[in-house]
Amino acid sequence: MTDKPLPSMVELTPFNPVYQANPHEVLDDLRERCPAHRDPTSGSLILTRYADVRGVVNNRDLWRDPIRAEEGAIMQRRFLAAAPEGVPRTHVASILTLDDPDHGRIRQPLAQALYARVARFRPAVEQLVDATLDALEGETEFDLMDRYCVLIPIEAIACILGVDQSRLAEFRSWSEGVIQALNPFRNAEQTAVMETSAAALNAYFTELMALRRKAPQDDLISDMVTLQAEGAELDDEEMRLNLQALLVGGNLTTTDLIGNTVRNLLLNPSELAKLKADPGIINAVVEEALRFEPPIDVTSRISSSEMEIGGCPMRQGQVMTVSLRAANHDPEVYDDPHRFDVSRKHRPHVAFGGGAHICIGAPLARLETAVALVKLFERFPDLKLADPDAAPTWRTLPFFRGMETLRVVV
Ligand code: HEM
Repeated sequence: MTDKPLPSMVELTPFNPVYQANPHEVLDDLRERCPAHRDPTSGSLILTRYADVRGVVNNRDLWRDPIRAEEGAIMQRRFLAAAPEGVPRTHVASILTLDDPDHGRIRQPLAQALYARVARFRPAVEQLVDATLDALEGETEFDLMDRYCVLIPIEAIACILGVDQSRLAEFRSWSEGVIQALNPFRNAEQTAVMETSAAALNAYFTELMALRRKAPQDDLISDMVTLQAEGAELDDEEMRLNLQALLVGGNLTTTDLIGNTVRNLLLNPSELAKLKADPGIINAVVEEALRFEPPIDVTSRISSSEMEIGGCPMRQGQVMTVSLRAANHDPEVYDDPHRFDVSRKHRPHVAFGGGAHICIGAPLARLETAVALVKLFERFPDLKLADPDAAPTWRTLPFFRGMETLRVVV
């Protein structure tokens, strides 16, 4: 028995250098000593066992909207947008944090349109990945994050939405600005950038929606205005906010998945060799990458009544923060969980959450990552880390795991 204090929520973020260097050192210890940990600093019950995490994310009776969290749920309440009186909840919150019936009403048409587009999007992704690789021809050393991993998700979503090529640079900078919506510890400067970017995106989406109503094109914004005209119950503000949610939820996460996977393959030459020998195993590689180093650490739910979770009694309004990273490395479920093994017997991970809120962008993220990896190693078969002994440059954005830079030589 150790009397070392249990970690607070902040200690489960990259603000804690030990966690940043190796999150599993902290998470394994927490899972072993207290798998359902009431953390007074955040007002959350922190869950780290796979069974508890899976049970919580799949439970459709739980709530998600932070407005329903009790006063003591300190961290959760930081996500509450300051909304002027009388503004409907769906005009300040996207599906990320809405509950039914609004969640289902808005998510259904968005998912219908997005999934149909992603299903026929492979050729376009291949084209944009090829073009991104073409731009690197002739170079011997570069930062893969900046020149590859950051570009692919933003250009892919821009293409799906129907963003004009001439507006791509602006769109990219707004997309990066709105990511701060996911940072509960953001400072005043970051909040200002987030707000300016969100306003610019809103104005741009308004413009695009008007254009597509007049003349529909082959893009998601046209699909959405058409569904709306055909009776889907969502208004323009809901549409804008949720199109933005695709950028907030989708860009950095997919960037990080591509970057982390390249690094893990380079650090595990036997696994990279399997992919090079048979690119047909790429889907298994992507699933193992999502399990091994998920880009998002946590998600949360709120108890909707008195209940017991992980053996702990919960009042209505109490928050559960589930560690997707800890669940994905639970030794009860995965043999030798800290080994990156692309031949691992498939056991579903929780990198995309689950239940009603399961990541709506998962098919797109999987597609982009699969194409980006296969084509990268085809184009640069001798790709290596520029400095294999250098510590990775982990970003310090809470609840995200990805690198600032990844220097490679080809
Ligand atoms: C590897 C990449 C990605 C990861 C790891 C990821 C992870 C997640 C997670 C953990 C959740 C919360 C699920 C839950 O609470 O049960 C989520 C929700 C969401 N994600 Fe993703 N995501 C990724 C890519 C994307 C992409 C590409 C998009 C958009 C095109 C996207 C849009 C969203 C949205 C809108 C939600 C909210 C869904 C809802 O609450 O109904 N994500 N994602």
